[in-house]
Amino acid sequence: MKIWSHLAILASLCLLCFSFEPAFAVDNDSAIERGKKLFEKATCAGCHPSGENLLHPNKVLKGPSFANRYKNDADLVKVIRNGVANTGMPAFSKEQLSDSELKEIIAYIRSLTPASLHSTGSPVHKSPKSLSPPKRRL
Ligand code: HEC
Repeated sequence: MKIWSHLAILASLCLLCFSFEPAFAVDNDSAIERGKKLFEKATCAGCHPSGENLLHPNKVLKGPSFANRYKNDADLVKVIRNGVANTGMPAFSKEQLSDSELKEIIAYIRSLTPASLHSTGSPVHKSPKSLSPPKRRL
C-alpha cells in the first residue's frame, strides 16, 4: 500500500524536524540550508518531501515545468502566501513565515531544480536567469 510508505515518510520527517531543531539556532548556514530547515519546520516537507508533492503528484516543486510556471520568485511568494483553495495547499501568513524566512524557503526550492533535472532524465536544460542554480548539491 502506497499510503503506508507515505505515512512512514511523514513519520520520519517529523523525527527529522526534531533532530534539526538544535542546528536551527546556528546562524552561519547558507540561505539554502536555512531554507531547507525552515521547509521542514514549517511543515512543507510533510507534503513536499524533497520538493515532491504527495497530494498532487503533478505539482512538484522542481523540474523544468515547475521552473517554467514559476519564473519569478514573486509568483512563488503568491502561491505560498495565498495557498491554493480546495487542494490541500495551505496559505502561510506572515505570522507563520516572515518575509525573510519565505525568501530562504524559496532559495531552497529553487536549489532543487538543477538536481531534479538529472533524476527525471529530462533533456530540457533551460536555465532561466531567475533560477540561478547553486554551485553545491544538497
Ligand atoms: C498539507 C499539505 C501541504 C503543505 C503542508 C504544503 N503544501 Fe504546498 N502544495 C500542496 C498541494 C496539494 C499543492 C498543489 C496545489 C494545486 O493543485 O495547485 C501544493 C502546491 C505548492 C506549490 C505550487 C506547486 C506547483 O507546481 O504549482 C508550491 C510552490 C508549494 N506548494 C510550496 C509549499 C511550501 C513552501 C510549503 C510550506 C511553507 C507548503 N507548500 C506546504 C500541499 C501542501
